[in-house]
Amino acid sequence: MKPEQVNELLYQSLETELGGVQVYTTALRCALNEELKEEWQEYLEQTENHVRIVQETMEVFGLDIGAETPGRKVVRHIGESLVKAMELALQSGGPAAAQLVAAECVTLAETKDHLNWELIGEAAKKLKGEEAKALKAAYDEVEEEEDEHLYHTTGWTRELWIESLGLPAVLPPPEEEKDVKTAIGAARAKHARADML
Ligand SMILES: [Fe+2]
Repeated sequence: MKPEQVNELLYQSLETELGGVQVYTTALRCALNEELKEEWQEYLEQTENHVRIVQETMEVFGLDIGAETPGRKVVRHIGESLVKAMELALQSGGPAAAQLVAAECVTLAETKDHLNWELIGEAAKKLKGEEAKALKAAYDEVEEEEDEHLYHTTGWTRELWIESLGLPAVLPPPEEEKDVKTAIGAARAKHARADML
């Protein structure tokens, strides 16, 4: 394994979580559905906790949490762009449109976040010693929450869009009702939506 790239993954993970806090804070201003608001409020608090977990893990790796890397800059740029997209929607679209934009932005942010943690899980299997222990502990604490953040928000985005088309929607989405935590579970929940209408 390439230690430099594992470090880069941790820098990008920290930046993704920091961006996530901003994305959820802005998304909450766009949310109309009460259950969605509750869900995102919970995810915001979990994301703040993820920031702390990544920072503590980076300390074990001897990394400076304030150090800049080119990759980290790109991740920050994307996070800031997602926030700007939501602000644009708040200013120029109706409230329902802004909620849709927010759901899409959260899904995009959580896609990267979920990938990071999947990769952290892979790296943890190959590392040795204190670093392996720290990475594995972080992964065990966070991974299941990341599954929920991505799969449930993907479901919210799809169903809110379906509702906006004037079609029958399952709200809260089946992913939430079925407490989905895996890609297979998400596919099953989506498949079952027709029976839940
Ligand atoms: Fe996260």
